[in-house]
Amino acid sequence: MTTEAKTSFTPRVLSGMQPTGNLHLGNYLGAMVNWVKMQATHETLYCVVDLHAITQAISVWGGPNELRRAIRDVTAAYLACGLDPKKSAIFNQSQIAEHSELAWVFNCVARIGWLDRMTQFKEKAGKDKEKASVGLYDYPVLMAADILIYKATSVPVGDDQKQHLELTRDIAQKFNIDFADSIREQGFGDAYFPLPDPMISGPATRVMSLRDGTKKMSKSDPSDLSRINLTDSAEDIAKKIRKAKTDAEGLPTEATGLKGRPEAENLVGIYAALDGNSVEGVLKQYGGGQFSTFKNALADLAVAKLAPIAGEMNRYIADPGYIEGVLKDGANRARAIAAPVMADVRKIMGFV
Ligand code: TYM
Repeated sequence: MTTEAKTSFTPRVLSGMQPTGNLHLGNYLGAMVNWVKMQATHETLYCVVDLHAITQAISVWGGPNELRRAIRDVTAAYLACGLDPKKSAIFNQSQIAEHSELAWVFNCVARIGWLDRMTQFKEKAGKDKEKASVGLYDYPVLMAADILIYKATSVPVGDDQKQHLELTRDIAQKFNIDFADSIREQGFGDAYFPLPDPMISGPATRVMSLRDGTKKMSKSDPSDLSRINLTDSAEDIAKKIRKAKTDAEGLPTEATGLKGRPEAENLVGIYAALDGNSVEGVLKQYGGGQFSTFKNALADLAVAKLAPIAGEMNRYIADPGYIEGVLKDGANRARAIAAPVMADVRKIMGFV
């Protein structure tokens, strides 16, 4: 029997994005679209994970002025994409000290062997692992704390975060087992933390680079043509799609015909996700036709869906007082959940 079986938890959603560089189409389709939807059905908390942003070299996150700007810009992007501060708590992670405090406790629960398996650390640290920050290695433990300090049960993310969510579940499970007696003695039932479910859904859970269909679309790709930024103008969006790499064949009529054609598969997935359709539905409409026709349709769709977001973002960025108010209010709401959870954890652990 799992530790979850006997204890029920309030359904609650938490997710976050890093304030480094611009948000892009991968962030939007892989995560944000689901964040917005879940506001209608769940209690939702969305944070700007500024403590995660500093895990890379200063040259990557840009230093204090850039961090301040990026926190506000990402908040503006959240609002422009449709997060509603009346429905969701929108806040930046560093305002809630309990994230870091719980991360320390989890550092002593998680095992080095578990972290050694994390593929994102290997990718980000590259060949020179000795020069990576300790924070980069520990990044997934802080992420587990972000989620569990709110006892979140559901975490909408892109496919690349799956392994981190598995680690979060392992940490929650080990905490529940290691401290089972104390959890019961303190009156918290059979398990203190839920085992949160990753919510990875839709036709674009892994959006690939527009220049190379085998590489993930990412903020760190040196080519700006590889991604569509949420701040791109209508002209740039259309240009990037027209220039997107494709192979020589036309579009297949069945999804199986996309196998081994990563660029075509990516563009069809992007179309489907932007249109709220399925890959099969898109191929029914465009399969058998020329790629250039499909690309024109995709460019029009992407401009129609994404260009207004950039406009809205600029409107919010022009009002930093409003953004700060949203973050402050969100932090107050988040703290009201996080503080009692941390107090419980201190009790369970035996801190006096
Ligand atoms: P970040 O900022 O790298 O990414 C934010 C979200 O965007 C998704 N994503 C993608 N989805 C599809 N295709 C892509 N090419 C693509 N690129 C990024 C990511 O999966 C993510 O959902 N570690 C997290 C931040 C984090 C977090 C958390 C998330 C910190 N604490 C707690 C959830 C819960 C991250 O990678 O962010």
